[in-house]
Amino acid sequence: MNHFLDIHLTDTKDLRKIIDHAAEMKTARQGRPRGALDDDQPLKDRMVALIFEKPSTRTRVSFDVGVRQMGGQTMVLSGSDMQLGHGETIADTARVLSRYVDLIMIRTFDEAVLTEMAEFATVPVINGLTDRTHPCQIMADVMTFEEHRGPIKGKKVVWSGDGNNVCASFLHAAGQFGFDLTFTGPPTLDPEQEFIDLARAKGSNIVIERDPDKAVDGADLVVADTWVSMHDAQSARERRHNQLRPYQVNAALMSKAKPDALFMHCLPAHRDEEATSDVMDGPHSVIFDEAENRLHAQKAIMRWCLEV
Ligand code: CP
Ligand code: NVA
Repeated sequence: MNHFLDIHLTDTKDLRKIIDHAAEMKTARQGRPRGALDDDQPLKDRMVALIFEKPSTRTRVSFDVGVRQMGGQTMVLSGSDMQLGHGETIADTARVLSRYVDLIMIRTFDEAVLTEMAEFATVPVINGLTDRTHPCQIMADVMTFEEHRGPIKGKKVVWSGDGNNVCASFLHAAGQFGFDLTFTGPPTLDPEQEFIDLARAKGSNIVIERDPDKAVDGADLVVADTWVSMHDAQSARERRHNQLRPYQVNAALMSKAKPDALFMHCLPAHRDEEATSDVMDGPHSVIFDEAENRLHAQKAIMRWCLEV
């Protein structure tokens, strides 16, 4: 069963195939209206369940549009409206959904929900973000980097801020795609050691550098994300802001990276907090290409899952 649960759990050859296929499919659609069907309709007669236990704009719309472009149908479900949110087990939900749909995408809190869904579903399951990881986002980010700058292998990526779920998937991707990653942020918000070790074991140079100016030196890509994620307690907001303010990505920090460095943010952003508007809207920024590429990358992921 081809589940897409995490980047480090997917074979490197398959990851490469997915990125290349996504780029091909993007090119093939150029100039077409968003609602036009792809020439081949690989998801014809397929039904896809999109389950959200947390809010979403990009993931929801890009998966829904992607399925429709490929000729399939979707149902968007909110976790709280399902029996899942009222005590039915994940295992039973997975077995029931597998009788109705061909593919399940789920955005949830605890990673255990995703893994249990995958264990008991008899159809492929895709991780649409958990508290711990966000692999679909980083597939789109790798695609976006390569579209602008060529192969990401051997490049230096700098993550500035909270070592959160998106950062974790960047670490997984570092190991699988062969790039280096420097994390700069406060020690209390370091990424999980397990993810650092995984990337190092695959040969990536993973550096923790507390000084953001030193960290971005020689960077090919600088990445920021929100300082307070959906799973973080709102009561921690002020403390996090105070700790993370020195790691804001602004024009002064970007000027220390390579002159042609890219800037990424998965969005949604809190403008002028984790990144300033002049950087987000400036010449280094590819944030809206990343958002668009969610569509293409996820279409390729779904095709890989369904082998169509
Ligand atoms: N980047 C991302 O996953 O955005 P949404 O929360 O809007 O889906
Ligand atoms: N780290 C953010 C990413 C949102 C797409 C969160 O989990 O809220």
